[in-house]
Amino acid sequence: MPTIKLKDGTSIPQIGLGLWQIRDSDIFQQAFSAALNAGYRHFDSAQEYHNEQLLGKAWRTSGLKRQELFLTTKISVRHFRPSSLKKSFEESLQKLQTDYVDLLLLHFPVPVLRKQAWRVLEELHAAKRARNIGVSNYTIRHLEEMQGYSQQEPAINQVELHVFLQQPELLTYCRKRHIAIEAYSPLAHARVMDDPVVQKIADKHHKTYAQILLRWLVEQQTVILPKSVTPSRIKENIEVFSFVLDEADRAALARQDKDLRTCWSPVHVP
Ligand SMILES: NC(=O)c1ccc[n+]([C@@H]2O[C@H](COP(=O)([O-])OP(=O)(O)OC[C@H]3O[C@@H](n4cnc5c(N)ncnc54)[C@H](OP(=O)(O)O)[C@@H]3O)[C@@H](O)[C@H]2O)c1
Repeated sequence: MPTIKLKDGTSIPQIGLGLWQIRDSDIFQQAFSAALNAGYRHFDSAQEYHNEQLLGKAWRTSGLKRQELFLTTKISVRHFRPSSLKKSFEESLQKLQTDYVDLLLLHFPVPVLRKQAWRVLEELHAAKRARNIGVSNYTIRHLEEMQGYSQQEPAINQVELHVFLQQPELLTYCRKRHIAIEAYSPLAHARVMDDPVVQKIADKHHKTYAQILLRWLVEQQTVILPKSVTPSRIKENIEVFSFVLDEADRAALARQDKDLRTCWSPVHVP
């Protein structure tokens, strides 16, 4: 499994299964098993997804060792006050049936409270309860501001990113500061599955539409977090590491940026 290097020299698997909106326990278990069989070892959960307990149960019964997995959770916007954050994080660990997470993120740049919340993440990192710490939905402005109050820079910024929302300035900025990017909603939440330019490139490479969207992100050196509960799609989505887009594909895809946001937008958050 290809990995992306983080600023401390450790690495993260380049693909993780997105777990948002998977709350049914049978469906969760089926998706988790299909992902393991297909080769996924990285799972992206959050307090807000209400499925940390399902992830805990699934990995515990999988027979895999904890160190073979990369587990992410995110602090809900409801828990940014330090006492609430610490308590909610302990609850997350209990639900996940582990004593550490591989990646802990602040889910959104909550005004004012995000500064003190980050300091708590720094403490949790120092205590080795969170092997890596980062943020999500942070714009360049939010990351710039962090330089004024953080002792430790975020390892990762998880943002909405796909062919239809390319965010080139944010990518360049994060590359310069060695902040790895995780692309969430890499399939644009399946909102645009009929773009003729993408389809033409898919036909040319004998790949699927989804695989072209994911491959474009892989070539941007981002971590991709496609969500699916469909075993055949889970397998299809990981099969994006053995072909390359050519110059003409890249130029055509660059023109498909529509600034399309399918999820919450942090753009106007002070
Ligand atoms: N940090 C944040 O604020 C944030 C926000 C949003 C998302 N995320 C993370 O990013 C993950 C992915 O984002 P997302 O769930 O919004 O959307 P996504 O991965 O862009 O798209 C998921 C949708 O695409 C469908 N799909 C998956 N693979 C497909 C394929 N090969 N062909 C056709 N359709 C396919 C899925 O259907 P089926 O499931 O029915 O197969 C589902 O409807 C989330 O699960 C979460 O982990 C983070």
